[in-house]
Amino acid sequence: MKINYFRITFNFLLALLLAGCGTDDPIAEGNTKAPKPDTTAQQPGTAMDSASVQNLLQQYDPPGRDVWQKPEVVIGKMGDLSNKTVADIGAGSGFFSRRLAQQAKRVIAVELDPRFVQFMDSIKLVELKPEYQDRFETRLGLPNDPKLKPGEVDIVLVVNTYIYIQNRVEYLKNLLSVLPKGGKVIVVDFKKKRMPIKYPTADVRMELYEVENELDAAGFTNIQSDDRSLDYQYIVMGEK
Ligand SMILES: C[S@@+](CC[C@H](N)C(=O)[O-])C[C@H]1O[C@@H](n2cnc3c(N)ncnc32)[C@H](O)[C@@H]1O
Repeated sequence: MKINYFRITFNFLLALLLAGCGTDDPIAEGNTKAPKPDTTAQQPGTAMDSASVQNLLQQYDPPGRDVWQKPEVVIGKMGDLSNKTVADIGAGSGFFSRRLAQQAKRVIAVELDPRFVQFMDSIKLVELKPEYQDRFETRLGLPNDPKLKPGEVDIVLVVNTYIYIQNRVEYLKNLLSVLPKGGKVIVVDFKKKRMPIKYPTADVRMELYEVENELDAAGFTNIQSDDRSLDYQYIVMGEK
């Protein structure tokens, strides 16, 4: 029998996280209901119960995500990262940040929800070698401000998060202002078409051209899209 050590560690940390959050919610125990899409994590100041955290983590990283997410393809779009700092906006469980930390000079995992920050801070200690742990920084962002300093990052990655950002064009302008000349933003999100995965539901997906238009409106140039490399998602890149 093949043992999935990552999933065991993930579940262990999830249990710790939930213990820290308090599991007195009756839904958390023996919950047989299918997880429903929960956008409360994207609403600042909204209380989220522990079951929602668990459901969200299961939605973000369903079993087999690697197969269709192809993180190596997305990260490959960034070129040589050995001297680059990448911000992962809306990092969630750190699916991309943990992988980026093994290739980039530094990764800043920006997250709105402190519980995901806590989760990433824990999982990086068990999953990453010490030299990679040092490259992985978590940062609490605000809905309208990623809290990045000018010149701090070379590339900004936004995976499965773009639609949840409020005032997106203003947010992109903020990113543009902190990126150096030649700096890039990369948006990866779900295509609006029928697909065999459950989440996200159609109401939380955006058309590719809308992402392109918003990058253009914010002042990004050399906007390039790839809707073929990934089965369920498009990749849109813009440059300063
Ligand atoms: C669907 S998850 C995607 C997580 C991760 N990028 C991935 O691909 O696994 C969206 C995440 O974005 C976070 N988020 C939403 N709006 C944000 C914002 N303005 N700044 C930072 N994080 C945000 C949410 O808290 C949530 O964890």
